[in-house]
Amino acid sequence: MIRIEHLKKEYPNTTPLKDVSTVINDGDVISVIGPSGTGKSTLLRSINMLEVPTSGHIWIDDVEITDPKCDLEQVRNRMGMVFQSFNLFGHMTVIENVMSPPIDLLGMDRQRAYDEGMRLLRAVGLSDKALNYPDELSGGQKQRIAIARTLAMDPDIILMDEPTSALDPTMVGEVQAVIRELAKTGKTLIIVTHEMRFAKSICNRVFFMDEGGIYEDGTPQQIFDAPVGEKTRRFVRGLKVLELDIQNTIYDFLGMQTAIEEYCVKNQMPYRMAKHIHLTFEETVQQNLIAEYEKPDIHVTIEYSEEEETAVYTLDYSGKKYDILSEGNELSVSVLKTTAGDPRYEWDETRKYQNRLVMNIL
Ligand SMILES: Nc1ncnc2c1ncn2[C@@H]1O[C@H](COP(=O)(O)OP(=O)(O)O)[C@@H](O)[C@H]1O
Ligand SMILES: [Mg+2]
Repeated sequence: MIRIEHLKKEYPNTTPLKDVSTVINDGDVISVIGPSGTGKSTLLRSINMLEVPTSGHIWIDDVEITDPKCDLEQVRNRMGMVFQSFNLFGHMTVIENVMSPPIDLLGMDRQRAYDEGMRLLRAVGLSDKALNYPDELSGGQKQRIAIARTLAMDPDIILMDEPTSALDPTMVGEVQAVIRELAKTGKTLIIVTHEMRFAKSICNRVFFMDEGGIYEDGTPQQIFDAPVGEKTRRFVRGLKVLELDIQNTIYDFLGMQTAIEEYCVKNQMPYRMAKHIHLTFEETVQQNLIAEYEKPDIHVTIEYSEEEETAVYTLDYSGKKYDILSEGNELSVSVLKTTAGDPRYEWDETRKYQNRLVMNIL
């Protein structure tokens, strides 16, 4: 069991882990996902003390590894780490690469290390490469060897940091197949990955990382199909988001049009959609809300899914109840009918923004 309490890791310019607490049970297979720079690698590296936390505590079973008196070598022998960049020894043959950790670190005798090494090479489908050097192998083969070498230590916990992201796409599958088998062995496996479908298919638990920690922790069904957090939902669906705030009748309309333009171009949206977003913004905000409210407080959210080629336009605004589509000026309403469909208007007095209008951009 891995127990993390109030883990904080600060670098001079950023604090990727602000206050992380969690318990990882034996046999958990955890996929760690999230935007880049959210501390996924830092978390993994903290678990085997490759990074020394700024504060907080980590226990592996009943050993506190963040205790300065802890014998780290002994604890690390129970943990294996697989990196993006293989890290094999170029001057050793494949079988020597796999044999050397248990010989050097555990004092295993050569014959046993050899037998065990060959068994592991068979398990990753590479026993015929035993006498080759790493340079003679493809990226996918190197990574399978790196996994075999990690397994040679018979670790209880295996940490993998984007094990397939340095690979040519044709080789991702063979490495994933090895990891998939490994996930069934009952070892604790924590894997940082961008391959969502793969993550979903092998793990029993997902950490979505953002905002300085584990933003959402749940089953793959929860995280991928029914995420609770707003950021989780946007991430797993690959949504590109633009948010605009308007708090005055005199606001930078042209600046906002430019921001929308840049957002549409950056995400390579179809021309028709981009045009409809501009028009929707103009007809809702400029032609209606600014005219209707003396003190406007408006929050616009646009979420674009490249995969589905859909964009959702959400307008949150505070003040009296006012549904643009039934009360707004006729010209705007008729334009909006051509730019956005399926409107859902809600009024909720208890919210900061009492009015909400959601439309699908056509
Ligand atoms: N050794 C370091 N020194 C300074 N900043 C670092 C160091 N390692 C990581 N960072 C910063 O910490 C943040 C989190 O990094 P990382 O854990 O690698 O994120 P992820 O793996 O989620 O992409 C990033 O902003 C990164 O630039
Ligand atoms: Mg990383």
